[in-house]
Amino acid sequence: DQAGVLAGRRVVITAGPTREPIDPVRYISNHSSGKMGYALAAAARDAGADVVLVSGPVNIPAPAGVELRTVETAEDMLRASSSAVDEGCDVFVASAAVADYRPETCADDKIKKSTEQMTLPLVRNPDTLATIAGRDNPPFTVGFAAETVDVEKYALDKLQRKKLRMIVANDVSVPGLGFNSENNAVTVFWPEGRESIGPDSKQRIAERLMLLIGKHLEAAG
Ligand code: PMT
Repeated sequence: DQAGVLAGRRVVITAGPTREPIDPVRYISNHSSGKMGYALAAAARDAGADVVLVSGPVNIPAPAGVELRTVETAEDMLRASSSAVDEGCDVFVASAAVADYRPETCADDKIKKSTEQMTLPLVRNPDTLATIAGRDNPPFTVGFAAETVDVEKYALDKLQRKKLRMIVANDVSVPGLGFNSENNAVTVFWPEGRESIGPDSKQRIAERLMLLIGKHLEAAG
């Protein structure tokens, strides 16, 4: 039963894509719909938590009773997540599909077509998940891993490298699951164990994840 496993806890969740501007009319982004993150926010709320949802641009409404903070870029996402965590946070869940790179500069005016080829210099974006997990006294931090090959290997590597308490791996190469779909199938890894959930609706997977997080928090005292 969901009710109460996160009662009195403050949960911050990132969701959706980011948009990295190229010029006033163009950007780099990805196919994240926000559905997984919004389902997580609703499930955390149903489990009794106070929820802040830090979201990139999506086309779905925020769940009732959840505090929505909207962002555009990866840099915005880091800023908004850091302030939300500063305000108090027991659990941080990063389900957003953040652009790893952004154009080095955003042109002031629309870029005109001229040559047959053009090169767009990109620079690394800050990593919100690693930044929050690397704090002194971090919240219980849960990352996602969207992989297409060697899902387990890359997920376990991220768990250790980013110092996470849990990582939720989804194989985003399976048609009908992952990005921009109603359903997902995940394997959750933590240092001492793992659990596979789904294929199931994102809502059902989110409920199971929040139960699991609640159990781990309780065990950690
Ligand atoms: O939004 P939907 O359409 O419902 O799709 C859901 C989803 C497939 C996007 C979601 O389930 C998912 O897998 N989200 C993570 C996507 C991702 O970008 O994974 P990654 O392996 O590149 O990143 C690893 C982790 O670091 C993620 O928790 C990500 O939020 C975080 N990260 C990554 C880069 C960065 N600059 N900042 C971050 O916080």
